[in-house]
Order: sequence, then C-alpha cells, then structure tokens
Amino acid sequence: MPPERQDVLRELAERVRANNDEFTLLESLDSGKPLDVAQGEIERAISYFEYYAGLCRSIEGKQFPYDADALIYTRREPYGVVGQIIPWNFPFVMVSYKLGPALATGNTVVLKPAEQTPLTALRFARELQEVVPDGVVNVVSGFGEEAGDPLTSHQEVRKVAFTGSTEVGHQIMRNAANRTAPVTLELGGKSPFIVFPDADIDVAVESVAGVMYYNTGQSCDAPSRVFVHEDVREEFMDAFLERTQEEVVGDPLVEGTTMGPLVSEAQYEKVTGYLDIGREEGATVAAGGGVPEGDTYGNGWYVEPTVFSEASNDMRVAQDEIFGPVETVITWSDYDEMIRQANDTEYGLAAGMATENASLAHETAAELEAGNVWVNKYATLPPGVPFGGYKQSGIGREHTRETLLAYTRCKTVDIATDRSPM
Ligand code: NAI
Ligand code: MG
Repeated sequence: MPPERQDVLRELAERVRANNDEFTLLESLDSGKPLDVAQGEIERAISYFEYYAGLCRSIEGKQFPYDADALIYTRREPYGVVGQIIPWNFPFVMVSYKLGPALATGNTVVLKPAEQTPLTALRFARELQEVVPDGVVNVVSGFGEEAGDPLTSHQEVRKVAFTGSTEVGHQIMRNAANRTAPVTLELGGKSPFIVFPDADIDVAVESVAGVMYYNTGQSCDAPSRVFVHEDVREEFMDAFLERTQEEVVGDPLVEGTTMGPLVSEAQYEKVTGYLDIGREEGATVAAGGGVPEGDTYGNGWYVEPTVFSEASNDMRVAQDEIFGPVETVITWSDYDEMIRQANDTEYGLAAGMATENASLAHETAAELEAGNVWVNKYATLPPGVPFGGYKQSGIGREHTRETLLAYTRCKTVDIATDRSPM
C-alpha cells in the first residue's frame, strides 16, 4: 500500500545519504565525472527518491456521478513487471528517475544499468536487498543486445521505460509493440539556445557553458546549438570563449577539475570524429578542436572543450547529437528564419534563450518545438517539474505527478446501486 511504499522510498534515500561518499566515489570512478559533480548527482538522486516517496500519497481514483443507480469509479493499478533500461551519462540519477515512480505505484522492476557504468546500481542493490521485499527490484547488468533486448521483448514485462539513443528507442518501441506494452522514452537532443540582442551576455554565457561543458557534454538536453543575434555576436563570442578556457580538463579525482574524460573509447571515437567533420564542413574552430596534450592525459578519453563558430544549421555538427563538449554557434538576424532553423531538427527535447523582454520570451517559448524551455537559465530540473521530449526526443514526461499515470493502468468499476434490499 502507498504508505508502506513511502516508507521504503524514504528508507532508500536515507541509506544512500548515509553512504554518500561511497556512492560518489563509485560514480566518479565508473563514469569519469569529477568528484564534486558526482557528489551533486548522488544528492540529486536522493532528492528524487524523497520526491517519489511523497508522491505515494497522491495516488487516487475518480468517481463519476453520471448514473443515479450506479457507483462508478476508477482504480489506478500497477502493471506488474516493469522493464527499465538506463544509460551511462547520469548512472545513479537515472536509477532514481526510474525506480522512484515504479516503486511509488507498486510495480516490480527489472532494471538494467548501462554496461559502462553499473557500479552504483549494483551497490544500491545491496541496500534494496535489505529494504525491499524479495523479487521486487532486480538489477540485471549486461550489454544491450544480450540483457536489454530480451527485457524489452519479454511477454511478461508489461511496461518498458528507456533512456538512451534514439536508435535503440525505436527498437524498444518495436519490441514493445508486439505485445502492446506501453513505453516511455527519453532520447536524444540537439537543443537550441537563442541569444537575443537585448540579452544579459553573462547570463547567456553561463546558461550555455554551465550545461554544455557539464559532464563533458554528455547530456541529452545540452544546449548544443547557439543561435546568437548578429548585433551581440562579437560580445557573446568573446565572453563565451573566455569562459570555455576556464574549464579545467583532467583527472576526475583531483580537486579543481571541472571536466573529466568522456565515458568510453566508443564515445571518444564518436566525438573526435565530429571534430574532424566540423572542420571538413567548413565551420571555424574558435576554441579547442582536439585532444589535450601532456602526460596527465595519457590514459583517458579526454577531449578539449570545443567551439565551432560560423556554422550553419544544416551542417552535421548542427544536426547530429555529438554528446561531447562541442558547441556549434550560428549567427542570426531575422527572427522568423531563426525560429524555423531552431525547430529544424529531428529532436525536440529542450531549448533556451536569453532576453530581458518578457513578452518576447513567452512568444518564443510558445513557438519552440521542445518539451522544456528555459529563459535566462538552463536545465534546472527540480523534482516535480515535467521533463521530456517532442518529436524524436521521446514519449512521456518524467519527474512529475503525471509520471505516476505512466506506471499505472486505469480500471473502471461500475456497480449497480438500485438492487432491492435483502
Ligand atoms: P544506447 O542507447 O545504445 O545505450 C543506452 C542503454 O541501452 C544501455 O543500457 C545499453 O546497454 C542499452 N541498449 C543498447 N542496445 C539495446 C537494445 N538493442 N535493446 C535494449 N537495450 C539496449 O546508447 P550508447 O550506444 O551508449 O550511446 C550512443 C549515443 O546515444 C550517444 O553518443 C548519445 O548520442 C546517445 N545517448 C543519449 C542518452 C540520453 O540521455 N538520452 C544517453 C546515452 C546515450
Ligand atoms: Mg548503443
């Protein structure tokens, strides 16, 4: 029942809090995140477990007064077994995003962490063992094809939730379609950030750089296409390049490092490949563009924070999700054309803008095809606020009350009340 589930989720949050340092170190070692970044994410996961603990108390049905001789009501029931597959970019945060709503609604779960970063999920399984009844949560690590695919095609997995690449998202949807299992998908992005001529440039620079370089650019909602108005282009670029130079690339375990390596060799090959593609397409390398030199970097998948300027929206570096610290800057002058280009992408996860004009901000927010739009800030996602994509960026909204609906089925019960008394 919901009160017991609430206790369970609270207890899980407490146990992570009590072992915060251990979770932080594991997360950093596994993913290459600087320690303070990893710490922030463990705390974020704790706050999501607590949020979903609270949401347990908001599960409710409805009653329909449309027949005088009947009591008609709905129940929200769990699916049973839910399959959840998560990626490597925010390993433990993703555990909280996925387990939170599934447990709050009374489902059982098979959770598959990413093969690159299973450690915090496996460490958490030890706590789960002591807090959750046997069989309720099963952490199954493994590769996508061997462990993920069977999970999404299994007849008895009644609902599937996935965060990862759009390509695998399509495959998962096809598998689920064979048995009409619902899916929630949180996929890729190529999010625009618009700098208007009246923007506070410091705010614009920090909104973009603070997320683009966070986690070495491996965020689905990274603002990876900047549309800067020609009147402020120079001012913005000067400040943005200066901010880019402030990134300290290096060992994640050394204090002061702001940017660790990419997660894996595959990701390194992908990102450095795009550094070449950008040059070949004729974008200007305004910063970075390569791999840092020196012994410190001998054994890591490091890349330099990179800015491509003089880019156009049809270049591959402006269309493809690179998933590395690579910013693409496009200059604009005509509002309608800029909006058209901002929306001219297969993705629609997020968008941002910097302007001091409130009316313009509302108008532009309405015109952008994106599930989340930030103004004079970027990617703040407090628990409770919906997150999710338009177009190829996904289906469903996470982190909010509506998420509970995705983890429950609606049953309508209609009872005749006009029977004569016994
Ligand atoms: P991926 O989508 O292949 O992997 C994500 C998760 O899906 C992992 O747990 C993986 O084991 C699993 N998986 C892989 N193939 C599967 C299959 N056939 N059936 C079921 N599960 C499967 O992503 P990958 O290859 O690690 O990264 C490639 C690109 O995807 C990245 O460069 C980035 O552009 C994008 N990506 C987006 C993420 C997001 O937050 N939306 C997260 C991770 C990657
Ligand atoms: Mg893959």
